[in-house]
Amino acid sequence: MPDSFDLIVIGSGPGGYICAIRAAQLGMKVACVEKRATLGGTCLNIGCIPSKALLQSSEEYWHTAHGLKDHGVIVDGVKLDLARMQARRAEVVTANVKGVEFLFRKNKVTWLKGTGRITGPGKVDVDGTEYETKNIVIATGSESMPLPGVEVDEKHIVTSTGGLELDKVPGHLVVIGGGYIGLELGSVWRRLGSEVTVVEFLDRIIPNMDGEISKSFERLLTRQGMKFRLGTKVTGARKGNDGVTLSIEPAKGGAAEELKADVVLLSIGRRAYTEGVGAGVGLDERGRVQTGAHYATNVPGIYAIGDCIAGPMLAHKAEDEGVAVAEIIAGQAGHVNYGAIPGVVYTWPEVASVGQTEEELKAAGAAYNVGKFPFAANGRARAMGETDGFVKLLADKATDRLLGAHIIGPEAGTLISELTMAIEFGASAEDVARMCHPHPTLEEAVKEAALAVAGRALNM
Ligand code: FAD
Ligand code: NAI
Repeated sequence: MPDSFDLIVIGSGPGGYICAIRAAQLGMKVACVEKRATLGGTCLNIGCIPSKALLQSSEEYWHTAHGLKDHGVIVDGVKLDLARMQARRAEVVTANVKGVEFLFRKNKVTWLKGTGRITGPGKVDVDGTEYETKNIVIATGSESMPLPGVEVDEKHIVTSTGGLELDKVPGHLVVIGGGYIGLELGSVWRRLGSEVTVVEFLDRIIPNMDGEISKSFERLLTRQGMKFRLGTKVTGARKGNDGVTLSIEPAKGGAAEELKADVVLLSIGRRAYTEGVGAGVGLDERGRVQTGAHYATNVPGIYAIGDCIAGPMLAHKAEDEGVAVAEIIAGQAGHVNYGAIPGVVYTWPEVASVGQTEEELKAAGAAYNVGKFPFAANGRARAMGETDGFVKLLADKATDRLLGAHIIGPEAGTLISELTMAIEFGASAEDVARMCHPHPTLEEAVKEAALAVAGRALNM
């Protein structure tokens, strides 16, 4: 007779594994089903972690080759050992996925190895063995969005998965989609020597971030040598002996042309992965598991979280939902504030955002003040030689409450946490401005932008 559980989580990505651990902390008997050979989902195996390993390594390479002369450090003969760089990426992944295995053992979470299928309320089949459980959380994640006419082989036409594992620096990398993946992986291969062209359907990159940040980001990446074909769509791809030929044309219609590439990275978004979910669980019009308040699906006792439901496809959003749903199942008041989920693009400079963009505030007819401060006027940024970018804060005109924070610049992904906390706590721009910030730090640019909301920046 197979074991029965209080909770079975299907999928061990950041949503699923964190949910399993939190539920175990709350005293439940928990199992987590994972069909991949290792735990950790997209994020740890083929997403956040390996991409950040390569971003770090390629940044070290680029900086050593080009960024030190100004500091009076002369380095000759910098060489790339791509095989070692890729081996390091794999080692970083292994350390992380083994870490989740350790955490499961520590918290007495059972890993059910195989493919989970819900056969009815309270019943999960894992490769032919049926387990009983009081509750089920679906955390099956997402997969890369296909593009008709552009057939992925993960060698010449790759998704992020193949794009992370290239064993040769492509001569010309064409990226389809100027979003998170395209710009991060495009940056990796650009730094390692590829010519990189980004073909983006819309007339701007990272379309869901603040427009001013997006324009500045495009300028800085162009300065790094990336080329952009905005307002352009790809209508087909032909593979030949000497690479791939893409057919492209203006998104609004017009003459078609050809673009040759050694490797094409397809990164036009991701879609919910729900294969095998079963048991009459309802999906929405975009194939995501439909959930109401408290992550409940239409079937009692079955919940869903992370990339397979609506909302931003981000690891920390999945994690926070994992904690919230475990607490809800335990009878507590689990909650996620969707107004305060930061997003970070880990290029150099980094781009980070939390709360509402200026475009969203305008569309809502909101009255707001803007405070901006450039890193070029920040002492620490000058000392680092990293003066590109700025901090932009948006605050309610009447109450001064912070509504949005947008940063492009050095360590933007770290700087955004202070502002996420400010928004979470309902702080005003003045609260941030009056908080003592250590000198000399990049954080002082945040304080100055907060002062600038009231037109009283001190160092500008
Ligand atoms: P996933 O991580 O996708 O995990 C789902 C798991 O469920 C998978 O392991 C899958 O094998 C398993 N599964 C599915 N169906 C079944 C089944 N029937 N039975 C058993 N197992 C099943 N987000 C960030 O916040 N920061 C980043 O820097 C970042 N970088 C990224 C870089 C790349 C290249 C990519 C592709 C994504 C990145 N993301 C990043 C997004 C992040 O990876 C996802 O938001 C996150 O992984 C979602 O977590 P999840 O738990 O919902 O699903
Ligand atoms: P994305 O949604 O970030 O960007 C896709 C881009 O492709 C958009 O700019 C869109 O306008 C464009 N596009 C869509 N269809 C197109 C077409 N036919 N031709 C040309 N352009 C087209 O998606 P991406 O980059 O694939 O990443 C998927 C998700 O993974 C992200 O949205 C994010 O949630 C997550 N992610 C997060 C990261 C982070 O937090 N740093 C890093 C990588 C991924």
